[in-house]
Amino acid sequence: MPQSNIDTSSQFKHDMLADFDADEFARQEFVKSFKLHLATTISPGNKAVYETKVVPQIKEETGKEPQDRFQIKKKMEQQQPYQFWSSLQRSSQEMMWKSVQLPVERQWKELLDASSEASSDYSTLELDPDLEIPKYHSAVDIHCMPGAYHTEQTENDVAAGAIYDRAVYIYAMGRMGPYNDDIGASTVAWLKTNFPDLKPKRILDLGCSVGHSTVPYLDAYPDAEVYGIDVGAPVLRYAHARAESMGKKIHFSQQNAEKTNFPDGHFDLIVSHILVHETSKKAFKNIAKECHRLLSKGGIMAHTETPPYKDMPLFDEFMMDWDTYYNNEPFWGGSHLIEPKQVAEEFGFDVDSVFEAMAPSAFEAGEKDQTKLLQCGDFAGAGVWYVYGMQK
Ligand SMILES: C[S@@+](CC[C@H](N)C(=O)[O-])C[C@H]1O[C@@H](n2cnc3c(N)ncnc32)[C@H](O)[C@@H]1O
Repeated sequence: MPQSNIDTSSQFKHDMLADFDADEFARQEFVKSFKLHLATTISPGNKAVYETKVVPQIKEETGKEPQDRFQIKKKMEQQQPYQFWSSLQRSSQEMMWKSVQLPVERQWKELLDASSEASSDYSTLELDPDLEIPKYHSAVDIHCMPGAYHTEQTENDVAAGAIYDRAVYIYAMGRMGPYNDDIGASTVAWLKTNFPDLKPKRILDLGCSVGHSTVPYLDAYPDAEVYGIDVGAPVLRYAHARAESMGKKIHFSQQNAEKTNFPDGHFDLIVSHILVHETSKKAFKNIAKECHRLLSKGGIMAHTETPPYKDMPLFDEFMMDWDTYYNNEPFWGGSHLIEPKQVAEEFGFDVDSVFEAMAPSAFEAGEKDQTKLLQCGDFAGAGVWYVYGMQK
């Protein structure tokens, strides 16, 4: 890609990352600052309104403390400060996509060329033009991303990948590190500490998208073969070209994690990072079943997401649930209620092996960040990631 000297605030510049002119960069920086301002200055007002108005109102009406997030939602939605914050939060999301779409559109041709000219010296790519995109992706522009991960506007499109790569950086306000790899790096660091004897021969990353979280597995397990699957062809083309430019050997293929073409017992470690909340309840069950088929005896399945609702104060649960209603994330709430032990029982995993942990952010800045609070749409993980899983 043609490069400018404009500082991209530390996002790593691999060959596929879209460049920005000064105006585009200023727009993106504005969105990043706007999101930060909403998180640190505006959002805390919600709690004040909750404590001073909503809790007393609920107590007066019911004689009890608030009982669940739905009751809180009903009352908070009548409060102007919440309405104001919520509409700004939604606007910031729409502005974010626009701010990354514009430079990608301007450099579309170069990006298509860069992807189609990418070598396969390290990574491989297998696409399946007949793969049916699951309805939970085709029916909604997930997290307001126009066209989501799979839409192709032209042959061999990569725009969705280019848009996603930059948008994640802005969304997380840079707190996922220069490679946007904090979720994978944090998960693998946790696995290395807690399963020191694990020496996986083959690793599968489900819903790998552009490969942000996949790469850390290569670095942590240099002797393993690493595979990444996704339903979206544009993100996979981008992932392949990105990995090539970084000299990383990953086998990417376009497959639905609910039913793959890998043989039984092929993997010793299967991971996913922020995939589960984007799949339906039924799909997640299929994925768990498929993981059981694909794992070798004693192999590990691990999923990483933002923390579950069960141990959260009700107000935080309510705030986290905003995405379910206003950020086109219909499965967000349900995914935060998954009980790993039930999954293990239902799909034949070793129930005693179930683990649930808060993995500390591998990216140091995440730990130190002043915005270390959990709130809706917090994909910087507030300094921790929820890792849960089990062994076959
Ligand atoms: C939020 S992105 C995850 C990004 C990536 N794992 C990371 O950590 O950067 C979710 C990805 O999961 C993919 N996905 C959703 N459902 C899937 C399924 N059933 N099979 C394979 N991929 C799926 C989407 O296309 C999308 O690229």
